[in-house]
Amino acid sequence: MIIFRKASDLQVYLAGRQEAIAFIPTMGALHAGHTSLISRAHEAGHLTVCSIFVNPTQFNEREDYEKYPRSTDADIALLLDSGCDVLFLPEEGEVYPDGAEAVTAYDFGTLETLLEGAQRPGHFRGVGQVVGRLLELVRPHHLFMGQKDYQQCLIVKDLLNQMQLDAKPELHISPTVREDDGLAMSSRNRRLTAPQRALAPVIYQCLVSIQTKAEEGNWDVVQKECVELLRDKGFEPEYVELADSSTLKPVEGFDSDREIVALIAAKLGKIRLIDNMIIGHRS
Ligand code: PAJ
Repeated sequence: MIIFRKASDLQVYLAGRQEAIAFIPTMGALHAGHTSLISRAHEAGHLTVCSIFVNPTQFNEREDYEKYPRSTDADIALLLDSGCDVLFLPEEGEVYPDGAEAVTAYDFGTLETLLEGAQRPGHFRGVGQVVGRLLELVRPHHLFMGQKDYQQCLIVKDLLNQMQLDAKPELHISPTVREDDGLAMSSRNRRLTAPQRALAPVIYQCLVSIQTKAEEGNWDVVQKECVELLRDKGFEPEYVELADSSTLKPVEGFDSDREIVALIAAKLGKIRLIDNMIIGHRS
């Protein structure tokens, strides 16, 4: 694996390669969720480029940015094992040479104001900004992202439509990788205390119960049960919602004629966890 810190060096290297380039942007603190994306790209025979950059513009709380786990040495070891060909490890000045204000902040309309967007104002502007910038630098043919961040996938899909790239990369969305007890892998899980970690899978259990009850249940009742269960276990639920899987506009119940996704965000102490599950539709 070759590590580049300078975008110009990375670009010279990539220009000399024949294979299709697959790009996996990350913020580091890597786990099996991240490496599943790299393995998929690698197995497809692409030249696999991963970036690690903790993007300041997508954090709406300074403390979350400062406390975001950073573990570059361990990350490199994991990447070596997963078939990654190139690691792009830029400093902030490489990504935002003229400051972040100089980089286009795309407008995602309603999609950036719903769910995560409502809880984290400005977050998706920052995501769009950094992914847009990284795509300009790497110019990949394929982009691999995780369903774990469902709304982010839709934002990036919209970004790809808005950007004027010579060749639009193909977006591949990979299933969420979970711990044995169902907890979706996340870099933030490392900040959970042992008792919090033991409670964290309740979010997944709620999603499974939503999926199970989608056939016959009443959404208002199921939603209330989930919110109450989360509160009883000591979570602070931010949302437990059903939404259209392509627009994320809220749907009123299980009997929608569209494919729907259940999404949950809840805090355990200071740690914010999100997860989602496609639950199909009942018409
Ligand atoms: P990060 O949270 O590091 O995630 C990088 C990629 O890994 C994202 O596409 C995310 O959805 C995927 N991922 C994380 N956990 C996963 C899991 N358990 N299973 C499958 N995929 C998982 O998302 C970001 O970074 C940033 O917002 C970024 C896109 C890099 C822009 O800064």
